Amino acid sequence: MGKKILVTGGLGFIGSHTVVALQERGFDVVIIDNLSNSSLEVLGGITKITKISPEFENMDLREKEAVSAFFDKYPDIEGVIHFAASKAVGESVENPLLYYENNLNTLIYLLQQLKERENSKFIFSSSCTVYGQADELPITESAPVKKAESPYGNTKQIGEEIIADTCKVTKNISAISLRYFNPIGAHPSANIGELPIGTPQNLVPFITQTAIGKREKLSVFGNDYPTPDGTCIRDYIHVMDLARAHVVALERLLDEEQETNYEVFNLGTGKGNSVLEAIKAFEKVSETKLPYVIAARREGDITAAYADTTKANEVLKWKAEYSIDDAMESAWKWQLKLKKKETEEKNKTV
Ligand SMILES: NC(=O)c1ccc[n+]([C@@H]2O[C@H](COP(=O)([O-])OP(=O)(O)OC[C@H]3O[C@@H](n4cnc5c(N)ncnc54)[C@H](O)[C@@H]3O)[C@@H](O)[C@H]2O)c1
Repeated sequence: MGKKILVTGGLGFIGSHTVVALQERGFDVVIIDNLSNSSLEVLGGITKITKISPEFENMDLREKEAVSAFFDKYPDIEGVIHFAASKAVGESVENPLLYYENNLNTLIYLLQQLKERENSKFIFSSSCTVYGQADELPITESAPVKKAESPYGNTKQIGEEIIADTCKVTKNISAISLRYFNPIGAHPSANIGELPIGTPQNLVPFITQTAIGKREKLSVFGNDYPTPDGTCIRDYIHVMDLARAHVVALERLLDEEQETNYEVFNLGTGKGNSVLEAIKAFEKVSETKLPYVIAARREGDITAAYADTTKANEVLKWKAEYSIDDAMESAWKWQLKLKKKETEEKNKTV
């Protein structure tokens, strides 16, 4: 039996890929998810890949008593990776209280439980959004945290502060915050991937849904930014690389290799791609022409963000291995699979 790891939000996009990576590395995984942005079918997808069905608790981490009961039921949890959160920037502007409640209360309830235990290991999903438009590129971990552009971004900043303050006084908790740049792609088997509910907020699901005919056209928000082709630049990282980074970070915690009991790492490729370059990469690997229009700039979008990954490369000994083409190819394969499933289901009901 491997060490038991709790993965909250383990049926979500990044969580499900991380569950697979953990199982493949010999860990036993327990997932908590309330299915607010995922589906039970993801469990089947994970099991299809690894042939191991993770334990699953359908529960809401906003219920403090339930979180406490969970740790009573599973006293042998050796590490926690906390993905569960609401993540739609626009929705967070419309409904800030939902975001502050879901993203902060869940974190606090987990840390309260971990504080009571002898030796707790904790990994937090943070985001490059904490940097806003950084003054210097590429962005290192010591770049200043800028005023958040949205309640969602603020929950990541406050979340990191809560962990830092807790670790300062609670030495039995060791924690790592991972600041993701722009996760894209899917498992190469296409058994799991990103499942955006409603209109996708991120570029790649919008691209693949447009290419499959689900959306009429893609809007590129602004081509008058001070970048070589005028469109925004992001650091697109394959979710497979991201998943592997969580395993590496967890092992650093379990092996007690940390320099301090709270560390922060950027997770990106270190390379920026413009929106037009991302579209071209997709068109190339999918051999599909994507209908797109140039639209007005979107409020809150920053011009460019890409990671300095030196710290993750040197300290975690982790480096992104997949290219943007690999990521686009896997995202397209996943979209084709979703379409096939939808068609089969439609035919069943006719
Ligand atoms: N995807 C990105 O672009 C991105 C970038 C930076 C950071 N992040 C962070 O990474 C984490 C995972 O993101 P993702 O893209 O996999 O999101 P996701 O929505 O696919 O996964 C989150 C999962 O958490 C679950 N969940 C939400 N609230 C819950 C609650 N109260 N109790 C139990 N389960 C709950 C959802 O059902 C979902 O399955 C989030 O914290 C997100 O903010 C994501």
